[in-house]
Amino acid sequence: MKIITTIEEMQQIALQLKRDERSIGYVPTMGYLHEGHQKLMKEARANNDVVIVSIFVNPLQFGPNEDLDRYPRDEEHDRAVTQQEKVDYVFFPSVEEMYPESHAIQLRVVERSNVLCGKSREGHFDGVVTVLTKLFHITMPDRVYFGLKDAQQVAVVDALVKNYNFPLEIIPIPTVREEDGLAKSSRNVYLSVEERNEAKYIYQALEEGRQLVVNGETSKDKIVEKVIQFINEKTRGKIDYVELLTYPNLKPIDQVSERVILATAVYFEKARLIDNLIFDENGELTFHH
Ligand code: PAF
Repeated sequence: MKIITTIEEMQQIALQLKRDERSIGYVPTMGYLHEGHQKLMKEARANNDVVIVSIFVNPLQFGPNEDLDRYPRDEEHDRAVTQQEKVDYVFFPSVEEMYPESHAIQLRVVERSNVLCGKSREGHFDGVVTVLTKLFHITMPDRVYFGLKDAQQVAVVDALVKNYNFPLEIIPIPTVREEDGLAKSSRNVYLSVEERNEAKYIYQALEEGRQLVVNGETSKDKIVEKVIQFINEKTRGKIDYVELLTYPNLKPIDQVSERVILATAVYFEKARLIDNLIFDENGELTFHH
């Protein structure tokens, strides 16, 4: 495994791999790697000749009141994980390397961004598409692996790739969960013991909502209400949102009649947790295994 810190070296390697007709699987991350990331790496390893992982905590996607400085980092652990997953190259640039000067051209996401997490994180997805545009040009992947835990991110990146003709395929990977259903996240370490215990109800609340659809309910309001009630009853978390939208277009609906996402974000004392389920008009899960 090779660790690369400069854009030039990473790009030269990617170019050579292209000339040699070797397929590149790429997993973009912000580090502090957990099983969710490992699953992405395993998929990349199984389906490509070469695997590149990037570790870069992207300041552009953090708002002024968000947790950039507190974002957990553990280089040694990340190195061990990438080694274990037989990653070929880890791209690990500094902020100065990625953003040496202010950008004369800015990217702005105008659809799929002003709902769910995007609503309370102004500019977040602009930062995500900006860094990914750079990273895609630097690593030149054939396939890029994203976790569906952040399904809005997958929807936005899907639009980026389609709208701007990036010659790569986005591979969405189902959310990895703890045994009790809690979605794995770097932010779970911030939960107190009591909060960790309650956090499992977030997933269960979404499942309650989905079950309504399985049983024939189509009213968005009724489904959303059920999820809100369940979370409020079972946890001391403060709901940021519970939304039911089409997927991947993320358009509002009154009735479930196509593929939808049922998603929530809940604030605990020191962590904001997100989760979602994507299912069709019969309540049948898509993507998730
Ligand atoms: O999902 C993440 O960790 C980040 O948003 C990503 C895709 C690495 C871009 O910085």
